[in-house]
Amino acid sequence: MGIAFESLYSDIAGRTGRLTVGKKTIKTPALLPVINPHLQLVTPKEMRSMGVEALITNAYIFSQSREYRQRALDEGLHKVLDFDGVIMTDSGSFQLSVYGQVSVTNTETLSFQRDIGSDIWVPLDIPTSPGADRGIAERELGITMHRLAEAKEVFGKDAPVAGPVQGGIFTDLRAQAARGVTDLNFTFCPIGAVVPLMESYRYRDLVSVVMAAKTGLTPSACVHLFGAGHPSMFALATAMGCDLFDSAAYALSAKEGRYLTTHGSFKIDELADLPCACNVCRTHTAEELNNDAGRERLLALHNLYVTVAEISRIRQAIFDGTLWELVDERCRGHPQLLAGYRALLGCAGSLEKSDRVSKRRFFYRGSESCSRTEIVRYQQMLSRLQLGNSVLIAFDGGMRDEFDDTLFFKPPFGPYPKELRETFPVGQSEIPEWDDAMVSTGCRGIRYLMESHPKSRFVVSCKPCWEAIVRQELENIEVRNDEI
Ligand code: GUN
Ligand code: ZN
Repeated sequence: MGIAFESLYSDIAGRTGRLTVGKKTIKTPALLPVINPHLQLVTPKEMRSMGVEALITNAYIFSQSREYRQRALDEGLHKVLDFDGVIMTDSGSFQLSVYGQVSVTNTETLSFQRDIGSDIWVPLDIPTSPGADRGIAERELGITMHRLAEAKEVFGKDAPVAGPVQGGIFTDLRAQAARGVTDLNFTFCPIGAVVPLMESYRYRDLVSVVMAAKTGLTPSACVHLFGAGHPSMFALATAMGCDLFDSAAYALSAKEGRYLTTHGSFKIDELADLPCACNVCRTHTAEELNNDAGRERLLALHNLYVTVAEISRIRQAIFDGTLWELVDERCRGHPQLLAGYRALLGCAGSLEKSDRVSKRRFFYRGSESCSRTEIVRYQQMLSRLQLGNSVLIAFDGGMRDEFDDTLFFKPPFGPYPKELRETFPVGQSEIPEWDDAMVSTGCRGIRYLMESHPKSRFVVSCKPCWEAIVRQELENIEVRNDEI
């Protein structure tokens, strides 16, 4: 029993892996579509045929349902939903955050989740609103932590219970909460109360909250981003180390007549064409889809296809080591996603530690690329080069005899010895014509090299057009304009 997580490939802080619950194993990152038993636009069986391996439903709805409560207790959740994959159940916490109270206790909801045969149970955590002040956030976190400890005590250390990380908008509380769930030996850790952040496009805050939570979790914990969300943000969340998403967006959007794409949603009555390869979009025109009596269901099907396909695309990007490029692409879809992406790049120093050593390639996609983990890593490594008394950094790639060592220059990485010419990242990177941002970043590499080799004398040889940037980044550097 229990929940086990194994990571296979990694990229940035993202990973592909395997989550095992009891006898069932699913691939991660994974999407857990939200199922409301009373309102199944797409059935669990249909989801299974689309490659969905796990889903999430609300135990509170089952427990309050005249139609489903007894059936779930008698037949089990898997039979009632006709789904043989992993089923996770949420407690009444979401209702708690919306309606302020629920008529169930922590041990009652956990017992009920156990009794209906759920694979992953969620205690009655308190999702602290982002607007809550520190006092409230601390008090609510205290109650949540008490309930998590109670769950372990009452149901045993191997019970498949999730340990949600709360703490509101306060990063130190999030880190403390994460350390707390780690100390309680939870290996499946949802990050909670982020739905209001995502609904109001506060992706910068989302990044700070998730990154803070991650500092207190072990890399072996499977991380679920509760209530996420729109497929345009999965790549960003995966890059931070989130492994599971439980989207209701496919159904909620469908109800509102919204058509999801990986770069935003559209109102179906405003679409002239359907930019998607799924079965719904290939068998309907935009007008037919809009006017179809079964529009809600067709939209839900399309939305789910798009969402599931994005998860596959993310898994492939992790396998290739191209997740930064996918994040870059997705985060151009909305200015607030771009703000979140930039906030993530601001964490490159800590992300570098989990990033992988070698990748398929590095594509330069504009000045944001200058902050990527590969550059942080490469420039840190420069201190390990062994250099003589005089060192030339030749932007044009030509050798000069009068120096002990000649290094070449590839922005945005910086100086490199010819032995690294073919290796990642210098060798496996594609850059367009040099721009100011990448040359500045490359000069930062020269600066690190100079700082770590104080006994060597450095000279830069470059075209006159780069001299101003070189001098701005490297005070008192000797610059030559000779070209070979
Ligand atoms: N669904 C969305 N957010 C949350 C959360 O913080 N806790 C629980 N239990 N469910 C959620
Ligand atoms: Zn489609």
